[in-house]
Parts: sequence; C-alpha cells; structure tokens
Amino acid sequence: MKKNNRVLKATAVSPANIAFIKYWGQKDSKLILPCNNSISMNIDNCLTTTTVEFSPKYKRDIVKIKFFGEKEKERKGRRTNQLLTQVDRFRKMAEIDWKVKILSRNSFPSDAGIADSASAFSALTFALTKALGLEFNKKELSIQTRLAGSGSACRSIIDGFAEWKKGNSSHSSYAVQIADEDHWSLADIVVVVNQQLKEVSSWRGHQLAETSFYFKARLKELPERVKKTRQAIKTKNFELLGQMIEQDAVSMHFITMTSKPPVFYWNGTTLDIIQALRRWRKNGLLGYFTIDAGPNVHVICQQKDIKTLERKLKRISGVKFTIINKPCRGARIVRKHLF
Ligand code: DP6
Repeated sequence: MKKNNRVLKATAVSPANIAFIKYWGQKDSKLILPCNNSISMNIDNCLTTTTVEFSPKYKRDIVKIKFFGEKEKERKGRRTNQLLTQVDRFRKMAEIDWKVKILSRNSFPSDAGIADSASAFSALTFALTKALGLEFNKKELSIQTRLAGSGSACRSIIDGFAEWKKGNSSHSSYAVQIADEDHWSLADIVVVVNQQLKEVSSWRGHQLAETSFYFKARLKELPERVKKTRQAIKTKNFELLGQMIEQDAVSMHFITMTSKPPVFYWNGTTLDIIQALRRWRKNGLLGYFTIDAGPNVHVICQQKDIKTLERKLKRISGVKFTIINKPCRGARIVRKHLF
C-alpha cells in the first residue's frame, strides 16, 4: 500500500456476483475468514455506483442510498453503521479526520432478493481508497473489501470469474481471477419468486453452519468440487459446471436445513423451477440452478438459450420477474460522480 496525493472525492462502480461454489461458514467471524474456497461470476445488470467525498465542509458523516426506483434518502441503522466502520478504518490509515458524504445507487430492484452487499461494499471500498489516495493492488483491495463484513464482496473486485482463496490469515484470504469476463458467454437469469427480505441473514447462516452434523462432510468434499468447477470454467465445460453448481447449491441448503435451528430458504416455486430445469434438460435445453440465502433461483445458461429459457421460466406460476445478466468486469473507478 502506498499513499499518494489525496483526491478526496472518487466514484466506483461494482457488480454483485453469483456464487457457483458457496461461501457458507466462517473460521473467524472478526477477520471474515471462510471455511472453504468459493467461486463466482460477476453479474452485469446488478451494479452499485458509489461516490464518496471527504471534506471539512461536512459537519457529520452522511450516508445516502438511492435504491432502484426509489428516491435518494439518508439512511441510518445497521447497514449505515457497517459502511461507516469501513470508512473509519480507512480514515485511520490515511490519517485524516474529515467527515464524509457517501451516495450509493443500485441499478437493480432491492426487492429482487439479490443481496447488494457484495456490490455495495466493493464499490465503497474502492471509492474510499481512491478518494484518500491509498493505493492498493487487487490482492490488497480484495482483502480490504473482505474486512468490510460481507465476505463475498471480495470476489467482486476481480474481473469476470473469481475464486476466493480461504487462506489461514487475513493476509492470505483474498480473491483471484480464474478467467476474465470475455472468456465465456454464459448468462445468469435471476428468477425472482419472492420479493421479501430474507428471513435469516447470511451472517446468521454462517454462524449456524457448523451446528449441522453434515457440515464437516461438506467441507471434506469441497476441494474436489472447487477443483472441478475451476477446471470447468477454464475449459468451458458447461455440463460439468452445471453439475458442480447444482451439487454445491443443494449441499449449502442441506446445511441450512440441518442446522440447529434449521433454516428453510426455498419456497414451492423454487422447487417447481428446479424440477422444470431438470425436465427441460432431458430435451436438450440446458439451464442449471443455483440458489443463495433466499428462495430466488439463478439459472445459469449459455447466452444462446437465454430467450427460450426466460420465456419458459416466466410461465411458471409464482415467478414474479426475471433479470438477465452476463459476466462482467469487477469494481472500477469512473470519472462521473453522483454529486
Ligand atoms: C449464500 O456474508 O458475503 O451468498 O449477506 O451478502 O453480506 P451478505 O453475504 P456474505 O455471504 C454470502 C453467502 C452466499 C454465498 C456466496 O455468495 O458465496
């Protein structure tokens, strides 16, 4: 890390990412060290743009968020506190005590059940470092983003397809690239079946993971699945990738359902989509499911099949809407500020 001339205002854009191999369970909840490596793809229609400005003209820290389709509003509460904790860490590093104004804007509906924490924390972290003139390389930026609290955000720093190496210390736990965004024309059709906030946060889920008798078994079989998923991406083996992501999603949800207390994220429509995908595959239409900590389904497919799959998915009763995504770059600095 180098310190150079302070710009004090900067804007970053960053995508959410969909995990092919899930981060579920923490070895260290303070340092956000995961129990296993995870693999993801950035998704281009789920972006957060964040502008930060440090200035003596601000008498207090101001955090404003503009959710998709809503008005820009000052926010307080747990989320804002988390963002400001990250700000404080960087203020210390830069040896500055000026107050900050943050404005963040999402390009996707907040009721789509797509956690915006990955895009939000990675955009914030990158913008903060730039504004304060703290120069980090990608590895360090990924580490700093991880420390913000939403571990999966560290994967959004990397372009395209990323693997978060679990590491065994803060220094060795960060994301690296498997392939860039142009490597493979995949798509992620997010199928929204429920617009409510998730009942049990991922944070709580991470803590509950090891109360499942089967968590050890998951960790045992993961290195092989991680290896095959990495290979499937590198060699563009779509069927292998599909098998791996479905196995991993089921494995993660099996852990949630067998945790104490158990957590059931799926609803009836989630299962209807899983069954439909399996039926369509028998007729040669390839779409594979993965599911995060909620009932919405991410259908991973090849770009040539987007239209057919989307049309069929929308016909399933209980499906509210879909969002089509392609792989994209990770966090980047842009010139145009939000204010
Ligand atoms: C199921 O703690 O990174 O999405 O709740 O978004 O902060 P947030 O999530 P985080 O856990 C992510 C859990 C997951 C799987 C994954 O993205 O790897």
